[in-house]
Amino acid sequence: MIDLPFPWAHLSYKEYNHWVLRYQSMTNTPMHILLGITGSIAAYKAPELIRLLRQAGHEVKVVLTRAGKEFVTPLTLQAVCGEAVFEHLLDPTAEASMNHIHLARWADCLLIAPASAHFIAKLTHGFADDLLSTLCLAAQAPLFLAPAMNQAMWSHPATQENVRILVSRGVRFIGPDEGIQACGESGYGRMTEPANIVSHLVLPPPFLRNQRILITAGPTQEAIDPVRYLSNRSSGKMGYALAQVASAAGAHVTLISGPTALSVPAACRCIHVKTAAQMQQAVEHELAQHTVFISAAAVSDYYLPQPETQKIKKQSQLNLSLEKTPDILGLACQRKNRPFCVGFAAETQDLVANAQKKLKDKQADLIIANDVSQTHIGFESDDNAVTIVSSTEAIVIPSAPKIKIAEEILHRVATYLT
Ligand code: C5P
Repeated sequence: MIDLPFPWAHLSYKEYNHWVLRYQSMTNTPMHILLGITGSIAAYKAPELIRLLRQAGHEVKVVLTRAGKEFVTPLTLQAVCGEAVFEHLLDPTAEASMNHIHLARWADCLLIAPASAHFIAKLTHGFADDLLSTLCLAAQAPLFLAPAMNQAMWSHPATQENVRILVSRGVRFIGPDEGIQACGESGYGRMTEPANIVSHLVLPPPFLRNQRILITAGPTQEAIDPVRYLSNRSSGKMGYALAQVASAAGAHVTLISGPTALSVPAACRCIHVKTAAQMQQAVEHELAQHTVFISAAAVSDYYLPQPETQKIKKQSQLNLSLEKTPDILGLACQRKNRPFCVGFAAETQDLVANAQKKLKDKQADLIIANDVSQTHIGFESDDNAVTIVSSTEAIVIPSAPKIKIAEEILHRVATYLT
């Protein structure tokens, strides 16, 4: 089960607080907050939450689900919020004043409090059968969830799996807290108190504003014949997480991606490539326009210079004469007036020593070393654990979702940029 009284799985309370404080000290801007209220007894705390959000200077619009309305009335919410509550997706009057797409664009952040088990499941699977779930799909703003449910429902594998998926997509969880529940049982499932929700509602500061970040991601594929190719194990998740976080932190992002099953993060420009040669060409073309280059791609180490044009018939032995692919990162690092260059090193032993050697050999500024001998992290996993190696230090980032690892890496990169 995910260790989750706190928004980020795998972070201790101390580490989490450190993050919150870091963000809080840098952000105090009032936001447009779209508050979604779903069906849970904790909905009775929503008026107090609205009052505190407004007191903190935020503008609040409220969306109430049908089940939420069983626990708190639109009239009560309207009284504290100062304007009519949104309830229906297909309401011609509401759509005529502010339609659901406008509402989604208006929001700087979405907060669902309380978020019921059912609503979390709907979000995980992308349902859009009412106004709130539709807004969650249409909005590109950060999404915070404050779950509230019976402790058994929270610890059920289905809910835990849904939470894990949402965390890996960048959704931020506030709570739930532990304690006595409305049903009389005790455990994790209580909605975090409104005052704590307000203090945890902080967005990453735009710490990469004005930066232009070039990221390679995914594997490359080198043809052997029309049906076979050479490749490396890579889902592309780490590179895509870096692109997502960099873009959310205000950077202009260009992603050069090998074949993956992932969708391009919002607001990122993507150049799709297949081979190492194509990736090299794209990097060469883009490098001068960028201030940071992050080489997260698992570039195939070898290629067949002349792939067969017809499918090679099966034989007891096949000899291929392979050549080395261009070292895209190494070449980028040799360029004059080059951007800040970051590489990755997938290692199975002597992690830091090998990363330090790579840093020197390639003349890179940082190497992100990950231990690929651990099966529960890295490669296709949503989690990773890395060591950020520079010429002077090696910083260990313990196992966390790739989104969180991406934030740590980019915060470190930002400290080197003027
Ligand atoms: O060269 P090696 O595979 O040991 O180093 C890994 C780093 O170099 C990664 O950042 C990877 O993206 C990059 N690389 C590259 N071109 C290659 C092979 C690796 O840019 N042909």
